[in-house]
Amino acid sequence: MHFLKSSLVSSALIFCHFAYGASHPVSFVLIGDSTTANGTTPNSGGWGNGLCGSMITNNIASVTANTPCINTAHDGATTGSFVADGFWNISLAAISGEVKRGRRTLVTIQFGHNDMKIAPPESMGANLTSMVEQIRAIGGEPVLVTSLTRRTFNADGTVQDALAPWANETILISQQQGSHLLDLHAASIKYVEAIGPDAAHRLNRLPDDNTHLNSNGTTVFGRMVADLLKESFPNELPIIPNPPLSFNISHGIASF
Ligand SMILES: *[C@@H]1O[C@H](CO)[C@@H](O)[C@H](O)[C@H]1NC(C)=O
Ligand SMILES: *[C@@H]1O[C@H](CO)[C@@H](O)[C@H](O)[C@H]1NC(C)=O
Ligand SMILES: *[C@@H]1O[C@H](CO)[C@@H](O)[C@H](O)[C@H]1NC(C)=O
Ligand SMILES: *[C@@H]1O[C@H](CO)[C@@H](O)[C@H](O)[C@H]1NC(C)=O
Ligand SMILES: *[C@@H]1O[C@H](CO)[C@@H](O)[C@H](O)[C@H]1NC(C)=O
Ligand SMILES: *[C@@H]1O[C@H](CO)[C@@H](O)[C@H](O)[C@H]1NC(C)=O
Repeated sequence: MHFLKSSLVSSALIFCHFAYGASHPVSFVLIGDSTTANGTTPNSGGWGNGLCGSMITNNIASVTANTPCINTAHDGATTGSFVADGFWNISLAAISGEVKRGRRTLVTIQFGHNDMKIAPPESMGANLTSMVEQIRAIGGEPVLVTSLTRRTFNADGTVQDALAPWANETILISQQQGSHLLDLHAASIKYVEAIGPDAAHRLNRLPDDNTHLNSNGTTVFGRMVADLLKESFPNELPIIPNPPLSFNISHGIASF
């Protein structure tokens, strides 16, 4: 029975997107803007390097060594420019490649930081819907991610949160599409408010750049995403536990 079930699952894999269980090989493809992107120089890049790992930015991977983790996010991208500039086609090719190798391919999508500068939330929402549909059509599994918070604070210690309407739009699309959702926006606000402005600013790429991350910021928020993935896909993903860092994050303790 067990054998029959696994062989059915393997042969059905290219055509369906249901959960396969822990033994099924998983790949990750990341889509988004600079707050996700693969750093190409030391002390650059978004949370993607903390999830996938990188020798360039000196971040240890949160996924197991044999797990493909392809970061196609791009600096400055909106949902619209990502498609128009050809990065979306690169993402689709990466997803197809992993699906063809018989791997369950999870695709994280996080936008908002640049979309908010050019159009109302519904514009990003329509583009996210199209992305989710296209990813499913080629056998990938979309995972919508709300925008990482900026580290800009009000005098009372709360985050000055301009991204909320874009985070809410992302949540709405995940509900409409029945996709997985990682509420990184809420989790990152909760964390930076707990550690406070000084510790939060130590995660910035430059002291007054409240958007981008240094390598410690990448480590912290990459682990936060890994923990949100684990919570959203219990016992299904090849994520290496990091109990001390996860403890600091879940208890609002500054690691750096
Ligand atoms: C990041 O880019 C480097 C090349 O600059 C590449 O070797 C590495 O595989 C990329 N990492 C990810 C996670 O895509
Ligand atoms: C969404 O995509 C359309 C093109 O399909 C583009 O005109 C629009 O600017 C995009 N919206 C955002 C917020 O990037
Ligand atoms: C992406 O690929 C599609 C299909 O091959 C093509 O029509 C489109 O022009 C490509 N987009 C860009 C920006 O190159
Ligand atoms: C976002 O959604 C939350 C929860 O539904 C709501 O409390 C909040 O007012 C919304 N924020 C914005 C800016 O729409
Ligand atoms: C957790 O936080 C403590 C206190 O700041 C720090 O000493 C420790 O290195 C942190 N652990 C990790 C794994 O980040
Ligand atoms: C990261 O944290 C370590 C340990 O606190 C510190 O020595 C290092 O300077 C930090 N890196 C950056 C880029 O701030």
